[in-house]
Amino acid sequence: MEQRMITFPDGRQVCPLGQGTYQMGRRRTEEIQALRRGIELGLTLIDTAEMYGTEDLVGEAVCDCRDKAFIVSKVLPGNASYEGTKRACERSLQRLGTDYIDLYLLHWIGRYPFSETVRALVELQQEGKIRSWGMSNLDVDDMEHIITLPHGKDCATNQVLYNLKDRGIEYDLIPWSEQHKIPVMAYTPLGEGRLRNHKILAEIARRHNSTSTQIMLAWVMRTQNVIAIPKASSIVHVEDNARSLDISLTEEDLSDIDKAFPAPTHKIHLAGW
Ligand SMILES: NC(=O)c1ccc[n+]([C@@H]2O[C@H](COP(=O)([O-])OP(=O)(O)OC[C@H]3O[C@@H](n4cnc5c(N)ncnc54)[C@H](OP(=O)(O)O)[C@@H]3O)[C@@H](O)[C@H]2O)c1
Repeated sequence: MEQRMITFPDGRQVCPLGQGTYQMGRRRTEEIQALRRGIELGLTLIDTAEMYGTEDLVGEAVCDCRDKAFIVSKVLPGNASYEGTKRACERSLQRLGTDYIDLYLLHWIGRYPFSETVRALVELQQEGKIRSWGMSNLDVDDMEHIITLPHGKDCATNQVLYNLKDRGIEYDLIPWSEQHKIPVMAYTPLGEGRLRNHKILAEIARRHNSTSTQIMLAWVMRTQNVIAIPKASSIVHVEDNARSLDISLTEEDLSDIDKAFPAPTHKIHLAGW
């Protein structure tokens, strides 16, 4: 079966399953091996941030395969002035040991106006230091603002909380993003690992001869416009997660999931950072 891909506004494509790195570093060697195994399996998008302290670990993981990896990093809101964004990007490039970041995001909304941060992001893109830029933790009204800015329609993604227990974005942000052809990047797709013992997930996993984790990921990635970025610290977990790409949930599965984890029926303000 040919791998389905997600297309960014600039035409670049990635596998709908990427790899997170928040809280990595405690089992560094194992985590680097896990990220490298993920790349081999096609999970080339690796998510990091200046906040995580994992950029050097990511740099080490991709040092001999930089061209295969799609690195996402983020500037902290407190650094996101015009000059501060540029300086933060330079520091990230240094830590990553690379001369470009594939996708550079504002981590969440801060005190600096979007216009200032976006101006810096656009210039970094024009200088070739980042290939594209995007946002994180922005709700619909803020995304509406972003796309009205000069070059704002080039915004490549919005990375937000999305998992079975946090479905609020289905009400408006996912439809808005589909309409504007901006892929959503779903963080904490496994609910930080806390959901996997749920009875209904075990039942659906049995039907597919799979695991609850794979079902959670297949569910997050079930639509055309969502990328899931689970964090997995071991090769075993990465290989387990990669198998979710082969699962197609049935109408019965989806209906059982909706009963256990109801879809939103009204606006729910974005949760997260
Ligand atoms: N933009 C933002 O504001 C933001 C916020 C939060 C997260 N993020 C990004 O999203 C990524 C993912 O979110 P997250 O780290 O919060 O949580 P998550 O991916 O939902 O869950 C991670 C947990 O799931 C476990 N896990 C992974 N694969 C597993 C498997 N196959 N079987 C059993 N357990 C498994 C991991 O254990 P092991 O580590 O032992 O494998 C870890 O404990 C982050 O790493 C980060 O890159 C972004």
